[in-house]
Amino acid sequence: MRLIGQAILLALTMQLTVSAFADDAEDNDIYAEFLEDGNPAEFSEINGEELWKTKAGPNNVSLEQCDLGKGPGVVEGAYVELPRYFSDVNKVMDLEQRLIHCRMTLQGLTQEEATKQPFSKPGKASDIEPLVAYITAASKGMKMAVKLEHPMEKEAYEIGKKLFFHRAGSHDFGCVTCHSADNKRIRLQNLPNLLDKKQAQKVYATWPAYRLSQGEVRSMQHRLRSCIRQQRFPNPKYASDAITALTMYLAKSADGAVYAAPAIKR
Ligand code: HEC
Repeated sequence: MRLIGQAILLALTMQLTVSAFADDAEDNDIYAEFLEDGNPAEFSEINGEELWKTKAGPNNVSLEQCDLGKGPGVVEGAYVELPRYFSDVNKVMDLEQRLIHCRMTLQGLTQEEATKQPFSKPGKASDIEPLVAYITAASKGMKMAVKLEHPMEKEAYEIGKKLFFHRAGSHDFGCVTCHSADNKRIRLQNLPNLLDKKQAQKVYATWPAYRLSQGEVRSMQHRLRSCIRQQRFPNPKYASDAITALTMYLAKSADGAVYAAPAIKR
């Protein structure tokens, strides 16, 4: 396994050198094509499945009875309907909030333990990223279908939309500053226009992603956190309701997209 991973990475490094001269707009597509048969995210998916099925926590139970919205233990197709309203907690949750909830209620972890390390660091892997990779992969090929039926789902969507358009901070930036026009870039990076349905669909349906620049599978939480930093806003609280609302807005704008993650990105 490790050898295969190294071979992929070596090949990627070579590919990166070549693509540095290619049109930047095509980069992500080049990675996608190149790695059609071998995205390193697959290692994460396998780890995640193991974590899902392994007994853990003070209660020594697995997450296999976790209800991600389609009934206890149903992983297939759960992600394309998230975020959603959960009646047992009377709130809208995204995948990571729900995972935290299951780790607390099923496994008996405290909130602090359940949220201790959401993102991997060099030499220190997170449990959450692989779990997210495993769960999202089980929705591959399905259509994004966030319902937006419950009043609290509608409310979360409206809050997310407001957050997207809200400009503030030292630079008076909002998401809308960088993501509302075609063919914009910062340095060498393309800025997708998230108000354009096609682009919004393509972007949302390809997160989480194995990020070549970071050597890890990164979740939507991580992507939004980076963008909030780009916006010169303070760091958001991990798995906060504000992130869930933003995710709800983005997920709904991707309605109908064929889900294709974990993908691979720069
Ligand atoms: C100052 C500019 C800036 C602001 C403000 C900003 N972003 Fe971004 N965003 C970026 C850059 C740069 C990238 C990375 C593009 C790349 O790597 O190809 C990015 C990428 C993304 C992506 C992933 C795109 C992809 O192709 O996969 C999403 C989703 C996103 N931003 C959402 C948001 C949201 C939501 C907000 C508001 C909370 C926001 N961004 C605010 C600059 C910004």
